[in-house]
Amino acid sequence: MTSRTGISQLEAEYADPSALRVRIDTHRQFSERPDDPHADVLAALKLDGTEYLADIGCGDARFLADLAAAGHRGPLLGVDSAPAMVAAADSIPGVHGVRADAARMPFEDNTFDVLTARHMLYHVPEPATALAEFRRTTKPGGTITLVVNRPRTCPRIRELITAHAATYGIDPADAPPYTVDSDTLPPLLDELFGAARLLHRDNALVFESPDPLIRFAESVFTFDGIAPDHPHRAAVLTDLTADIEDWFRHHPGEAWRDPKGYLVATVTVPA
Ligand SMILES: C[S@@+](CC[C@H](N)C(=O)[O-])C[C@H]1O[C@@H](n2cnc3c(N)ncnc32)[C@H](O)[C@@H]1O
Repeated sequence: MTSRTGISQLEAEYADPSALRVRIDTHRQFSERPDDPHADVLAALKLDGTEYLADIGCGDARFLADLAAAGHRGPLLGVDSAPAMVAAADSIPGVHGVRADAARMPFEDNTFDVLTARHMLYHVPEPATALAEFRRTTKPGGTITLVVNRPRTCPRIRELITAHAATYGIDPADAPPYTVDSDTLPPLLDELFGAARLLHRDNALVFESPDPLIRFAESVFTFDGIAPDHPHRAAVLTDLTADIEDWFRHHPGEAWRDPKGYLVATVTVPA
């Protein structure tokens, strides 16, 4: 699972936030029903604005930027393993970025009032270890909110990508591991915290023209084993583009629909 430059595929994927931004923007613009995990997390947290809040795997730190802009007065921490994401967090007034692995965090026990880990736990090789770290670093009575995808999210486009990648000898098993989803997270939480409060959101991406679908497909290549620096990446994209354009040509007036969804799970840290 190493890219040709020697760094892990995941590190290469998150070396800059561009692909992540394409994915976030696609979900915002092309979902069948409104898709707003950010709002769902805020609704679950019921913040009063004074909490010490750590967002683990903060990505481009939009969530923290919005909290800061809304006048959150407690400390805001963006934690990520990717230097570009830490820099994004650090560039926001009122937010501090820290580079760390979710499974080994450099924070004292009982530090945070609130911890969020949105769309990141599935990247961690041992999610139970990260969850234990989340519990250790959050105060008793504090809140932890996690977001993970449902299994087999966007299967149609993923199958098409994998089929084209296979013609260049690319095996999806070479993709970074995907370790937890909306089916497997609740039992893990049960074990560590007791029953979680669960909000399941089922939805679909719907595309009425090829370009945004092609852009989205390219933004998930890494997760099907096509590393950012893979020598056949451009060729797979060319073939896939032709195939998608062909599909729209042969299905006039029809939209491409791909099911997806996520789970927002919230727990209270036991005393
Ligand atoms: C899919 S992005 C989600 C970003 C953001 N939470 C969001 O929902 O938009 C996953 C983020 O988790 C980070 N990440 C992956 N594995 C990590 C780990 N073991 N520890 C900390 N951060 C990690 C990545 O660098 C990336 O920024």
